[in-house]
Amino acid sequence: MKIIRTKNSDEMSRKAANIFFSKLISKPSAVLGLATGGTVVGLYKNLIESCKNGDLDFSEVKTVNLDEYVGIGSENGQSYRYYMDNNLFNQVNIKRENTYLPNGLAGDISAECARYNELIESLGGIDIQLLGLGLNGHIGFNEPADAFASVVHAVDLDESTIEANARFFADKNDVPKKAITMGIQNIMRAKKIVLCVSGKQKSKILNEVLFGDITPRVPGSVLQLHRNVIVVADEDALEG
Ligand code: GLP
Repeated sequence: MKIIRTKNSDEMSRKAANIFFSKLISKPSAVLGLATGGTVVGLYKNLIESCKNGDLDFSEVKTVNLDEYVGIGSENGQSYRYYMDNNLFNQVNIKRENTYLPNGLAGDISAECARYNELIESLGGIDIQLLGLGLNGHIGFNEPADAFASVVHAVDLDESTIEANARFFADKNDVPKKAITMGIQNIMRAKKIVLCVSGKQKSKILNEVLFGDITPRVPGSVLQLHRNVIVVADEDALEG
């Protein structure tokens, strides 16, 4: 793992955006694995700015997101589709049909998981997978468990995840209890992984992810086994 230490979250966002920038320059048709959450909003702002300046072109880019809540759709301001449209897709020249997320409103959730898994395969590999880190060590919505879940699957969200994500909802009871997420194998197959972490509240779990035992109880710890991971983290997250 390569660790890039930054002074603050702004610098984390710029440095992480630069990794995507250089990939898109060398491969304009790259497949990007994308993430949601507060941590990566600044990175997307940097990409938008570069696109508006004419330095980045998304016309051939394809994106595949890590996860989506079950039970809410693109019109709902808390869905990850809405987040992606708002924080990136509507502000760059990407083709909407090249942006993929699981459908949280699918009638048959296990069929939707299988469909999304096949879709990821059909894209021929993710060039860069962006990740944030949950307070409990989750990546995507791979929650602490007894075993690593390999492919796309539906998951019951941890009480701690519901608590952590309640800040985005009017009421904690509005937070969906289930989600569809890429599995660990989908994530680990990406050619490169960029993990962004910011803030003192993540320092304990980041330390476990980077230096602790590799265990499904700390899902992010599996990243120690990937040969091309760049962790971009600010001082607060690295030192607490
Ligand atoms: C959600 C997402 C994760 C993300 C995490 C961290 O639970 N499913 O993919 O990494 O939040 O979010 P934040 O960056 O807001 O701390």
